Amino acid sequence: MFAKIEHGPLMDRVYRHQRHFYDATRKYYLLGRDPMIAGLNPPEQGSILEIGCGTGRNLVLAGEAYPNTSLYGIDISNEMLNTARKKIAVAGLGDRARLAYADAARFDPEALFGRREFDRIFISYAVSMIPQWQDVMREAVSHLTPGGALHVVDFGDLRDLPAFSRSALYKWLKWYHVTPRNDLFEVADALATATNAQTESHRLYRGFAWISVIRREA
Ligand SMILES: C[S@@+](CC[C@H](N)C(=O)[O-])C[C@H]1O[C@@H](n2cnc3c(N)ncnc32)[C@H](O)[C@@H]1O
Repeated sequence: MFAKIEHGPLMDRVYRHQRHFYDATRKYYLLGRDPMIAGLNPPEQGSILEIGCGTGRNLVLAGEAYPNTSLYGIDISNEMLNTARKKIAVAGLGDRARLAYADAARFDPEALFGRREFDRIFISYAVSMIPQWQDVMREAVSHLTPGGALHVVDFGDLRDLPAFSRSALYKWLKWYHVTPRNDLFEVADALATATNAQTESHRLYRGFAWISVIRREA
């Protein structure tokens, strides 16, 4: 329905080959994903959407941790979605999961999945890759059920790392089109104030990873 998704070809180029060894390598530095999933705590038979679902690794873990939930994922890379579809099928979660190609900055879940709202939405290491990440978070909050929550995990400000490691890491991340969002918590707080929601801010691994949670009123 959206004629042109320009960020998609870039993401396909980045992940065309990487997707084959993505999960094996990323487990060493996409930290905080498992604590984020452990904190989702959705209601029984609730719905969970991952924005920027990549290889489907997180959706599989969420599906195993929360057995009666429905799983949804969107991504702007068809290459990643191909891997995610296979991974979800191998995990035996195909009947509970639906994936769709979409741009997180302007997606219509009603058209994609036939539902407007989700009990939990999470974004794992994608806000640092999406130029319009603040719009994505705003849009995500607008698709929460009453009492629902948005969980975002990503690189933190790396504040407690030695200056040398920090600057080397920033250079390396830039190579992968990644920009840590040092104002993530402020943006989440402003969004929560505007929508009458509550926030939680978690700093993990000496500031390497951050988890931001925005909870909508019940
Ligand atoms: C670093 S990967 C993270 C994948 C997965 N969430 C994880 O934690 O392993 C970022 C993902 O976001 C996707 N992505 C980037 N920009 C996007 C956008 N505008 N809309 C939807 N997905 C996007 C990429 O294609 C990629 O799969």
